[in-house]
Amino acid sequence: MDKFLIKGGKTLRGTVAISGAKNSALPVMAAALLTAEPVTLHNIPKVRDLITMSKLLAFMDAKVSVTEVPASDYVIEAPSLNHAEAPYELVKTMRASILTLGPLMARVGVARVSLPGGCAIGARPVDLHLKALEQMGAEIITSHGYIEARAPKGGRLKGAHIVFEKITVTGTENILMAAALAEGETVLEHAAREPEVTDLIVMLRKMGAQISGDGSSTLRIRGVQRLGGTEHTVIPDRIEAGTFLVAGAITGGDLTITHCEPEHLGAVIAKLGQAGVPIETVNKTTLRVRGAKKLVGSDMTTEEYPGFATDMQAQFMALATQAEGTSAITEKIFENRYLHASEMMRMGANISVEGRRAVVHGPTQLSGTTVQASDLRASAGLVLAGLVAGGETTIERVYHIDRGYEGIVEKLRGVGADIERVHGSGS
Ligand code: UD1
Repeated sequence: MDKFLIKGGKTLRGTVAISGAKNSALPVMAAALLTAEPVTLHNIPKVRDLITMSKLLAFMDAKVSVTEVPASDYVIEAPSLNHAEAPYELVKTMRASILTLGPLMARVGVARVSLPGGCAIGARPVDLHLKALEQMGAEIITSHGYIEARAPKGGRLKGAHIVFEKITVTGTENILMAAALAEGETVLEHAAREPEVTDLIVMLRKMGAQISGDGSSTLRIRGVQRLGGTEHTVIPDRIEAGTFLVAGAITGGDLTITHCEPEHLGAVIAKLGQAGVPIETVNKTTLRVRGAKKLVGSDMTTEEYPGFATDMQAQFMALATQAEGTSAITEKIFENRYLHASEMMRMGANISVEGRRAVVHGPTQLSGTTVQASDLRASAGLVLAGLVAGGETTIERVYHIDRGYEGIVEKLRGVGADIERVHGSGS
């Protein structure tokens, strides 16, 4: 297993280019299953989850072509799908494999997808995806750890009026894709409004889908008989951009973040402002962060977009350890997303956790030690903590971070961080 070694205390200065959004690239790749025609995708981040998604599509008999490895440009062709299955071996490494369920049901009317199971940050069920598909006429059974779904007689899902009990990002995306080829109209209420959902809608529309309401919590999808090929460039990764904004802030540095979408970073920019960190909008795709005169504690609650993203919570906790005063964090999206807190405490942070609330008292001088990454964003929080800790921090299990951050070691080294990857054996 690879590790990161970080020698803290360096001030980060320079320019970082943001990659494409992992959470946008995953659904748009799955959407390529909806058509027999070629789909060309650009700005796909070079991260492990996208390699897993390619394997999944190839397993289903789609042809995935790339011009380099790892790739940011893909051509996906799925003239026929002979193997409508997402096997456990792939699903267990990436929960987002569930995103193939909607397209498979829409295109071939049957699907066999392994149940994702729990993960470090909570139970994360997919019941809302299944309930919505059932409302569209699918017959679903779960047996031997697999979801087995079948469209009604005739092989086509039917439009339905669906009200999600809880806002779900991949659930919204799955049903958008399923409804795009269903018979009649689907109305989806209490839908997710994340920019990645909107990006998927933009691409589906280019394929011929009839969808309205993007950016709002009510989506209307009028099913069509067939969808065609398209070319699409995925949006910048707002979580990667947010992580580098915090990296600039926590090290008291001066970073210019290019190829990003400032409009998607409203909640993060506002929170950094409250912490005393000014963010300058240089132009439509560039932000600049300069270290605060004094970092101050502030409270934060994670919410669905446009609220503060749960995927930025661990990074803000790292920042809060360096801020003067108390920061109360409330995690409203996932029930168990504070595993990084105990690792930060081992580095000397003063954090108390009770249920969904964490209280951080700062500032504390962190000291480097060996810590374990528990999930993708927790790893990012630990990297940020390592950047300001005294001495050396070793982060184990960095395969989590490789799932979603393209070239994080190279990007951080490029702006002056002392971080290296140590290759290990085994998994
Ligand atoms: C997506 C993102 C992930 C982000 C999360 C919340 C992708 C690939 N992943 O995950 O990075 O952290 O949104 O912004 O886009 N829930 C249910 N039943 C369901 C579905 C969800 O109870 O059927 C619950 C979840 O357990 C969680 C909440 O709803 O508490 C939100 O989860 P959801 O938005 O579905 O997260 P993902 O789509 O898995």
